[in-house]
Amino acid sequence: MQTVRTSEELTRARANLGGGSVALVPTMGALHAGHLALIEAAKTRADKVVASIFVNPTQFNDAGDLARYPRKEAEDALLLKEAGCDLLWLPGTSDIYPQKFATTVHVAGVSERWEGDHRPGHFDGVATVVAKLLLSVLPDVAFFGEKDFQQLAVIRRLVADLNMPVAIVGVPTVRDADGLALSSRNALLSADERTRAAAFPAALNHARDAIRRGVGEGQAIDEAVNILRNARFSRVDYFVLVDAETLEPVDEPRGETRLIAAAIIGTTRLIDNLPV
Ligand code: PAJ
Repeated sequence: MQTVRTSEELTRARANLGGGSVALVPTMGALHAGHLALIEAAKTRADKVVASIFVNPTQFNDAGDLARYPRKEAEDALLLKEAGCDLLWLPGTSDIYPQKFATTVHVAGVSERWEGDHRPGHFDGVATVVAKLLLSVLPDVAFFGEKDFQQLAVIRRLVADLNMPVAIVGVPTVRDADGLALSSRNALLSADERTRAAAFPAALNHARDAIRRGVGEGQAIDEAVNILRNARFSRVDYFVLVDAETLEPVDEPRGETRLIAAAIIGTTRLIDNLPV
């Protein structure tokens, strides 16, 4: 696996990947089995796999969150090499946001509710950096996790609206044995919080099963929120059934729908979702 940092190095290394298909897996590092599932999926779809690691400052709406974000460059590089990644791009902030940088990509509609509501500017940062990463690497296909379901929907909208010649593939969420979705943020949980956090996927499963049995959506979600309260989650930002493409709320599971939720345990905010 080759590792490059600057845009010039990337351009040269990209050309040296040859004429076959290229996949991109964008990440912010602190890699776990969820990220590696994206690399695995990418390897089955493309001849060469490029991964990027960039802790993108513009998508953090909270300076403390950015400062606390785990950074593990050497371990990440080893994991990517073992997973069969061909090229690792580790840009610095000035490679992505050089002086005079003045462009923001805003995806209206799908980015405005839920995470967009609770993290102002977050999806502008995501859309802007993902547009830059895609235009820098020029992959045939790019992989994103369903774990960040709204992010995936925003990126699909971005790529469709700007006619970017890249296929976007969503990869199912990888979970721990107790159901908690793997996330770099799980490392911030205390042992007690980590145990109680299993109530989050349990609540989503409960609501999904209830809705599938024909229980009204409102009651199913009330019961799920109670499961979180009993596990002493301090706040539920949203817990809602939405259309899987537009992320608009729906009253019943017609067409492709998704339960999406965000909740806080201790000082850590968790997000997760399930297909209904
Ligand atoms: P990051 O949180 O590092 O996630 C990188 C990719 O891994 C995302 O597509 C995310 O959805 C996926 N992922 C995370 N946990 C997962 C899990 N448990 N199962 C499956 N996939 C999982 O998401 C970002 O970085 C950034 O916003 C980024 C897209 C890189 C733009 O900065």
